[in-house]
Amino acid sequence: MINEISASILSADLLNLESEIKKLEKSGVDMLHFDVMDGIFVNNITFGLPVLEQMLNKTELVLDVHLMITDPLKYIREFAAAGADIITFHIESESDTMETIKEIQKANTRIAVALKPNTPAESVFQYIQYLDMVLVMTVEPGFGGQSFMDMSEKIRKIRKYADETGCNIDIQVDGGINAETAPIVKNAGANILVSGSYLFKAENMSDTVRKLKD
Ligand code: DX5
Ligand code: ZN
Repeated sequence: MINEISASILSADLLNLESEIKKLEKSGVDMLHFDVMDGIFVNNITFGLPVLEQMLNKTELVLDVHLMITDPLKYIREFAAAGADIITFHIESESDTMETIKEIQKANTRIAVALKPNTPAESVFQYIQYLDMVLVMTVEPGFGGQSFMDMSEKIRKIRKYADETGCNIDIQVDGGINAETAPIVKNAGANILVSGSYLFKAENMSDTVRKLKD
C-alpha cells in the first residue's frame, strides 16, 4: 500500500517556492523531499541549509531531506537544526554508516539510508534494525526527470528481510515515479513514493497525488 507521497521540490518553480509549497499542501502530499547535492557525490549542485531553514517557517509538512553529499556525518546536526524531520544519507558516501546513524539518533529525526541502483539490498541488512526508512533509488542520483530503473527485486528483498527480522520500516522509492511505475514499486513492497517532474508537470496536482496513492 502506498501510504505517503513526498514531493521533490527540485522540480518546483524555485523562485516561487512559497506558492509552490502552498499548492503542494492543497494537493494532499505528505512530505516535501529536499534533495541536497554537493557536486562531488553527484554531478550536480542544488540547495542547502538556508533554504531548508526558511521552508520550515512556511509549512507543517514533513521535511524529508535526501543528502547526496560526500560526508553526511559532518552536517547531520545542522540539517536537524534547520528543520529536517527525516534525514536520509547514502550508504555509498564516505561517512561511516554506523557513526552517521548514531549522529542522526542524537539529532532526534527519523533515520534513513539510501541505496544507489548498483548497490545490493544486502548492504543495508546489518543496519536495518536502527532505521526508520530505506530509500531505494530508481535512477542514478543527480537529476530530476530521468527514466525509471526497475529495482523490484531489491525492494522485495529489503521488505522480506525487514518482515523476517520484525523491523517495521518504510521503503521509499525515488526517481522516475509516475502512474505507470508506481504500481511496480508498490507491488514490490514500497510504501512511500518521491515524485518530482511527474507531479509538477501534472495539470491537476490533487488528481495526480490521488492516482499515485491508489
Ligand atoms: C534525483 C533526486 C530525486 C529527483 C526525482 O537524484 O534524488 O528526488 O528529484 O525526480 P523525478 O521524480 O523527476 O525522477
Ligand atoms: Zn531525492
